[in-house]
Amino acid sequence: CTGLSGSGKSTIARGVTDALREAGERTVTLLDGDVVRRELSAGLGFSKADRDRNIRRVGWVAAEIAKHRGVAICCPIAPYAAARAEAREAARVVGAGFVLVWVSTPLEVCEQRDRKGLYAKARAGTITGMTGIDDPYEEPTDADLVIDTTHISVEQAVERVLTHLTDNGWLEPRRIA
Ligand code: ADX
Repeated sequence: CTGLSGSGKSTIARGVTDALREAGERTVTLLDGDVVRRELSAGLGFSKADRDRNIRRVGWVAAEIAKHRGVAICCPIAPYAAARAEAREAARVVGAGFVLVWVSTPLEVCEQRDRKGLYAKARAGTITGMTGIDDPYEEPTDADLVIDTTHISVEQAVERVLTHLTDNGWLEPRRIA
């Protein structure tokens, strides 16, 4: 999943992870953006170079997981198209599938939610380089699925991902029945 902070990426990713774990077919690993930042990418900041490094690491770990027949669900902001393309390519190289979900909830809504208080800090100038405020987010032109969570529930958003996966042959229909 890619999208702005507060767009609903993590919540959707958790819901999809739970559903796939219940289906029980494959081992599912959730690489949550904030957890990755704490563990795998500790010490990295939010410059373009560091964000690219972060996404390269996530893409590499995800490809390793896929290489061993696991499913990796990742939900960083991933604001740069080139880094996302690299992650897609890393999956392709190991013969894995790759599904890009753009959680396209608009900035106004993310900012209104402001669960972590970061947008308020960015507006106040206490922090700089906040994605969507004074740092870029390159909207995907290659998303496999686009979900705006403004007017839908978490359950509905998760359902859309599962339906997409089923419709495209990634999941067997009975698995989510
Ligand atoms: S990414 O750009 O490298 O993909 P990532 O998803 O790992 O970003 O981390 C984003 C999270 O870090 C946000 O959800 C937010 O909690 C926190 N964060 C702290 N500073 C920033 C910032 N300047 N821009 C965006 N997110 C930030």
